[in-house]
Amino acid sequence: MKAIEIREKYLKFFERHNHKRIPSASLIPENDPSVLFTTAGMQPLVPYLLGQKHPEGTRLTDYQKCVRTNDIEEVGDNRHLTFFEMLGNWSLGDYFKEESIAMSFEFLTKELGIPVEKISVTCFAGDEDCERDNVTAECWKKAGIAEDHIYFYGKDDNWWIAGEEGPCGPDTEMFYDTGKEPCGPDCQPSCDCGKYVEIWNNVFMQFLKKDGKYTKLPQQNVDTGMGLERITFLLEGKKDPFETELFAPVMDKLQELATNDSIESRRIAAEHLRSSMMIIADGGRPSNVDRGYVLRRIIRRMTRHLNKLGIDLSKMSDLIDLDIDILKDMYQELDANRETIKETIIAEQEKFMRTLERGEREFTKVINKLKAENKNLIDADTAFNLYETYGFPPEITRELAKENNFEVVETAEIEKKFKEHQEKSKAGSEQKFKGGLSGTGEQEIKYHTATHLLNAALRVVISPDCHQKGSNITPERMRFDFNCDHKLTDEEKQKLEDQVNAWIEQDLPVSFEEMNKNDAAAKGAEHEFLERYPDIVKVYTIGDVSMEICGGPHVEHTGVLGHFKIKKEEASSAGIRRIKAILE
Ligand code: SER
Repeated sequence: MKAIEIREKYLKFFERHNHKRIPSASLIPENDPSVLFTTAGMQPLVPYLLGQKHPEGTRLTDYQKCVRTNDIEEVGDNRHLTFFEMLGNWSLGDYFKEESIAMSFEFLTKELGIPVEKISVTCFAGDEDCERDNVTAECWKKAGIAEDHIYFYGKDDNWWIAGEEGPCGPDTEMFYDTGKEPCGPDCQPSCDCGKYVEIWNNVFMQFLKKDGKYTKLPQQNVDTGMGLERITFLLEGKKDPFETELFAPVMDKLQELATNDSIESRRIAAEHLRSSMMIIADGGRPSNVDRGYVLRRIIRRMTRHLNKLGIDLSKMSDLIDLDIDILKDMYQELDANRETIKETIIAEQEKFMRTLERGEREFTKVINKLKAENKNLIDADTAFNLYETYGFPPEITRELAKENNFEVVETAEIEKKFKEHQEKSKAGSEQKFKGGLSGTGEQEIKYHTATHLLNAALRVVISPDCHQKGSNITPERMRFDFNCDHKLTDEEKQKLEDQVNAWIEQDLPVSFEEMNKNDAAAKGAEHEFLERYPDIVKVYTIGDVSMEICGGPHVEHTGVLGHFKIKKEEASSAGIRRIKAILE
């Protein structure tokens, strides 16, 4: 069964079980600056797992594009991917363990036709934070899983949380037995030998972890995730995702073009090509910070491996065309952004090629010097310098080192240098911002004040529950995202405009006060990401209509704003609407 067919089967199955199909969110989280990429299906749904009402109801299903780069150095083996797709179904305080397990069992055995004896499951063994999950084990037995196919593990294996804090809970994981010989008498699903492959994870999200403590969420949720690439290669009887239709045509093409073949290099090139195309299609661009930097690393690592394979970069445009053609039915955004994808990847490769040679020369110098000193370890400063001066991402330094029998300090050490460096440059730009209006033009300042007015008007006109979920200002327009469960009517838009314009005409004074952020929140100041602010914040008030935590700058009185006009209102993501507006 092809990946696209499995996806459709999955979504249809859950639709039949009264789930609403929702679209995949962008790989680039619009309203959450705390993460670089969407890393799991649940991520765009966090507000709803925490209790906010989802406009589509309490049963949802989707496929979600995900990027995880913490294991980027492992890509090249037969299972690690930086981009992957997760199929998911959610209960937002609706069904819980029994129904969730019954549906998973039915889907695996009936829809996908997996023989029951090939399935093993794992449950949470229990600890001081949460009891042993006997209920889940009972549900599996009732569904038809034999007792000796049910395993219990602790938090390391059977507890799921995205990062350090947030909604979480015990999970139950489903494993597919590939039929390989067990690696030993203790071979189990938790074992890494490849006999058992995890195919699905149902998380019973009922806790919130904050400051190291677990509290109960107001509702019991289910969050499930099935890795599409994995289930595809298993059902197709292939050895790994690279043998499936998602990668095989590119893998074969690379083999045909290579003068120095290596399957690891082909996997890295094919995987990183797909991943960078998907990120670019969702608006990502290479740069030196944050997600732009991750994209840069992916493209550069791909380029180095194409080089190693002996593949000329003049083939890039054809390779991209080929990859888009095999994936475009699954991701229409690739076809729609074909030219941008090509331009972005090729421009980055050209930049990298200009420095690669110089960098490799510098690298040779570094190791010759170390050899003369009888050392074989490249330290964090050297690795960082290779990046700063020659554009060498750490994993390239590591790969070159390995080829020369050299060691490199832990990636974490190098990452620390990067962080220190990024913080320095961030501090620099914040300094600039504090210093007043540099970098912020008069028109942007006006739009900035207008966003506060629009934010306040939403709560008057639409609902007291509407709050800002993101904004973006250029000298030409403002863009404002907010939570709202419906498309605004023409009448609502008109009322919003009228309200904002009335406040502009009243020429309200704008002023700010500095205070502790918790005091500000307690006073009811609007804020988006309290935990990300410094302890002392500025609180801007506009007359008695708006109070918001904000760095500024703003106009001194609203009369100078002119006339506020909404140009567009549209969906931004699930439950989030977007307004584009101008001041004329
Ligand atoms: N959030 C869980 C995961 O990513 C299940 O969807 O595995």
